Amino acid sequence: MERTFVMIKPDGVKRGLVGTILQRYEQKGLTLVAAKLLTVSRQLAEEHYREHSSKPFFRELVDYITSGPVFAMVLEGENAIKLVRLLNGATKVEEALPGTIRGDFATSTTHNLVHASDSPENARREINLWFPEL
Ligand code: CMP
Repeated sequence: MERTFVMIKPDGVKRGLVGTILQRYEQKGLTLVAAKLLTVSRQLAEEHYREHSSKPFFRELVDYITSGPVFAMVLEGENAIKLVRLLNGATKVEEALPGTIRGDFATSTTHNLVHASDSPENARREINLWFPEL
C-alpha cells in the first residue's frame, strides 16, 4: 500500500468540483485517509512548491494557491502515486487528455485543478508538511 498527497486547488473548490474529483479517485479504488479544507499561507505555499522557486511562474503559482480555500487530502492504495497522476492528466492544459480530471475540467496550466505528489520522496515530504499528525 502506498500513500500520496493530493490537493484540489482553489479553482476546483470555487467551481464546486470537490465531490466530482474525489469520486474519480474513490471509483478507482483509492481510499481517503485524511482530508481538510484550508486557506493556505504564503509560507506553506512557498515551502510546498520550493522546487519551483526559481521558475518564472513561481509568484503567480503562490498567488493562486493562496487565493482561496484548497481541499488537501491523503489517498492510499496500490501504486497510489502513479495512479493519481494518471487520473489527473498532464500538467499542461493543452496536453491533458479527455477522460482525465484536467483534460475534462482544467482551464489553464496554472488553473489546473489538482496537485499530486510525483515521487515517493515527495509524497513523504508533502504528507509531513500538510498532515504532520499522520
Ligand atoms: P502542480 O502539479 O501543482 O505542480 C506545479 C504547478 O506549477 C503545476 O501544477 C502548475 O499549476 C504550475 N505550472 C507548471 N508549469 C507551469 C507553466 N509553464 N506556467 C504556469 N504554471 C505552471
